[in-house]
Amino acid sequence: MRGYFGKKTAIVAAPLATTSMAVAEAVEVLHWWTSGGEAAALNVLKDDLAGKSIGWVDMPVAGGGGEAAMTTLRARVTAGDAPTAVQMLGFDILDWAAEGKLANLDAVAAEEGWDAVVPAPLQGFSKSDGHWVAAPVNVHSTNWVWANKAILDELRLAQPTSWDEFVAAMQKVKESGKTALAHGGQAWQDATMFDGVVLSVGGVEFYKRAFIDLDPAALGTDQMVEAFNRMATLRGVVDDNFSGRDWNLASAMVINNEAAFQIMGDWAKGEFLKAGKVPGTDFLCFRVPGSQGMVAFNSDQFAMFAQTDEGAVAAQGEMARAIMSPSFQSAFNVVKGSVPARIDVPNDAFDDCGKQGMAELAEASTNCTLVGSIAHGHANKAAVKNAIYDVVTAHFNGEYDVATAAANLVGAVEAAQ
Ligand code: GAL
Repeated sequence: MRGYFGKKTAIVAAPLATTSMAVAEAVEVLHWWTSGGEAAALNVLKDDLAGKSIGWVDMPVAGGGGEAAMTTLRARVTAGDAPTAVQMLGFDILDWAAEGKLANLDAVAAEEGWDAVVPAPLQGFSKSDGHWVAAPVNVHSTNWVWANKAILDELRLAQPTSWDEFVAAMQKVKESGKTALAHGGQAWQDATMFDGVVLSVGGVEFYKRAFIDLDPAALGTDQMVEAFNRMATLRGVVDDNFSGRDWNLASAMVINNEAAFQIMGDWAKGEFLKAGKVPGTDFLCFRVPGSQGMVAFNSDQFAMFAQTDEGAVAAQGEMARAIMSPSFQSAFNVVKGSVPARIDVPNDAFDDCGKQGMAELAEASTNCTLVGSIAHGHANKAAVKNAIYDVVTAHFNGEYDVATAAANLVGAVEAAQ
C-alpha cells in the first residue's frame, strides 16, 4: 500500500535488553487522553501496568488529536528531559525515529512475535529502518457517524445510506429545532470530518492521489471543489456555538438528545459507553454516507524515548510487552472505542460497533480500501497535515469560497513539502 512507509534513514539505539523479572521502575507517559472515555481506557493501561509492578508517572496534555501534546513533547526533548513513553501517531513516530531519539524495541518484538501479528500498514509506522520503535495499542478510524437513535425515531428518519440522504436527514433535524450536527470548531475536528467527506466524494483512488501522493492535479480538481461544497453543507447544520468546542462536548450533545449526529473517529464511542449508552439501542454507528467499504485509519502507538538508566529501560520493555498482549488489547480497545492492533484478538468482548469496526478494517485491508487518516497524521508528515488543516478550517469558517479553497490547497500543500 503506497504512502504508509517512511523512507527515512533512522539512527536507532541498540535493542532494549528485555527481562521478564518484575521491575520496580516507573514509566513517565505523555498522552492526550483526558476526556471521560479516554481516561477510562487509560485506566485499563495504568491498572495493567500496576499489576506488573510498573509505576506510572502521568503527563497528560489535553487537546484532541494531540497537537498540544506534540508541542509539549518537543519542548521536553529540547530541554533534554524526554518522557519515557509517548502516545504518538503515524508520521510523528517516523520523524522522531529519524532524529535518533527513539529506543529500539526489536528484542521484545522478537520475543513476542510482533512481526506475525501486527498488520503491515501499522508496522509501516511502528518500524523505522527495519527496527521496531513503537508499540501500537489500537486502530481507530475517522470516517464514522454517531447518531442519537431516539431523535431519528422521533423524526422517522432511517439511517442514511447516501450523502444526499444524510443531508436530507440533517435538514429535517434542523427544521425540528434540534441541532443536526454536533461539532467542535477546532482545526483537527474540521479535518477529521474532511477525511470522511473526501472519501465520500471520490473514494480511495481520489483520496490517495490527492492526500497521499499529493498530486496537484487531484488537489485542485472538481472533486476537491465538491469536497469543500460538502464541508459547506456541514457548516450549515452545526449550532451557533460550535466554535472552539471540544470534541467530547460535541459527543455529549448527541448523548444528551440535543443533537442528532456527530462525524468523529471511534474514540467518540468511548464517550457513549462511559455515559452508559448502548449501540443499536441508544445510538447508531455507521460510516460517513458514501464512504461505506472504506476505512481511514489512525493508530495510537507508544514510542519509547531512548534512556540510559537500566531500570527505566527495563520498564519501557515491560510496558511495550504489556501493551501488545492479546488480552490487554481486547480489554483496552473495548473501552476506548478502537479495535485491536493485532490480527489475532477475538471479537467476543466487543459491542456491535466494535465488531463492525473489526470486520470493516479486515475487509478494507484485503480490498485495498484502507487509507491513512489525513487529520490524524497517517497520510503525511506534520507540515503537510498542518497546511491542510489551515485551508480546511479557513474555508469552514467562511474565509473563502469553495473554488478558492481548492486552489489554496494546491499552493499550501506544495509550500509545505
Ligand atoms: C486521536 C487519537 C485518539 C483520540 C483522539 C481525540 O488523535 O488517536 O486516541 O484520543 O485523538 O483525542
